[in-house]
Amino acid sequence: MPTLFKKIREVKNYITSLKCDGNKSIGFVPTMGYLHEGHRRLIRESKLQNDITIVSIYVNPLQFGPAEDFERYPRDLERDLSVCAEEGVDAVFAPTDEEMYPEKPLVRIEIEGLTDIMEGAFRPGHFSGVCTVVLKLFNIIRPDRAYFGEKDYQQLKVVQRLVKDLSIPVEIVPVPTVRDEDGLALSSRNTYLSPEERQSALALYMSFLLAEKLIRSGNRDPEQLVGAIRDFISRHEHVKRIDYVEIRDEELRPVKEVKEGDRILLAVWVGDTRLIDNWRVGDAQV
Ligand code: PAF
Repeated sequence: MPTLFKKIREVKNYITSLKCDGNKSIGFVPTMGYLHEGHRRLIRESKLQNDITIVSIYVNPLQFGPAEDFERYPRDLERDLSVCAEEGVDAVFAPTDEEMYPEKPLVRIEIEGLTDIMEGAFRPGHFSGVCTVVLKLFNIIRPDRAYFGEKDYQQLKVVQRLVKDLSIPVEIVPVPTVRDEDGLALSSRNTYLSPEERQSALALYMSFLLAEKLIRSGNRDPEQLVGAIRDFISRHEHVKRIDYVEIRDEELRPVKEVKEGDRILLAVWVGDTRLIDNWRVGDAQV
């Protein structure tokens, strides 16, 4: 079993002892728990590249809006600890809200042109909450490397920019999205889906394959491609609303003509579940 820390002071002491003990390299996997194969992939990557792997499990209230699923978000610390044990994680940091935020944090972090688009536009304050917790966790854990899934591509770009602009001494390691066999991107929120909704949710992945086909047949117009993706997804049962579909370059700048390496990003409500996914253009042989 990994060592479980609930207190900041205790995990900091543990980190200090690791640094004193031959300056061991620390890989860090920040999570909100309810670990799945995608998290396992992050952990495995960290274990390959570092002496010690630490996972944090904390459902961060700052990154949820008032009408969002903070209360409903799935939690199961015992199960998560078993997953971490199976993967050979050295330590888990699972603080309470009181431990992380004894006072309401007043810091607000914004990154112009990055935290105000797509997820940021539909979830005001979300990325400020993500940046606050990630920065705080980095200050507590002082990792050499931190692992973020490409499933949350915008979050990955936000964290990379945060680290760059503030010269935070950590290497951000992106890890590709893990999908079920039928293409659904793994997410703790998939547990909200009924079997019928899960079937409709496959439309997200299938829309990427459709876009790949259109691009290969010569259509490079982002507006037309976005239109085709929207039409395709909205024809599926249980799809309640599409928040956005966008095609941007790998740094999330708008594009005039779609090329290999650009990203298709979307957020779609299937029933009462909001799913996000993204796709790197050129990744499928269709
Ligand atoms: O991606 C997540 O699970 C969360 O946004 C993170 C990075 C753990 C911050 O709460």
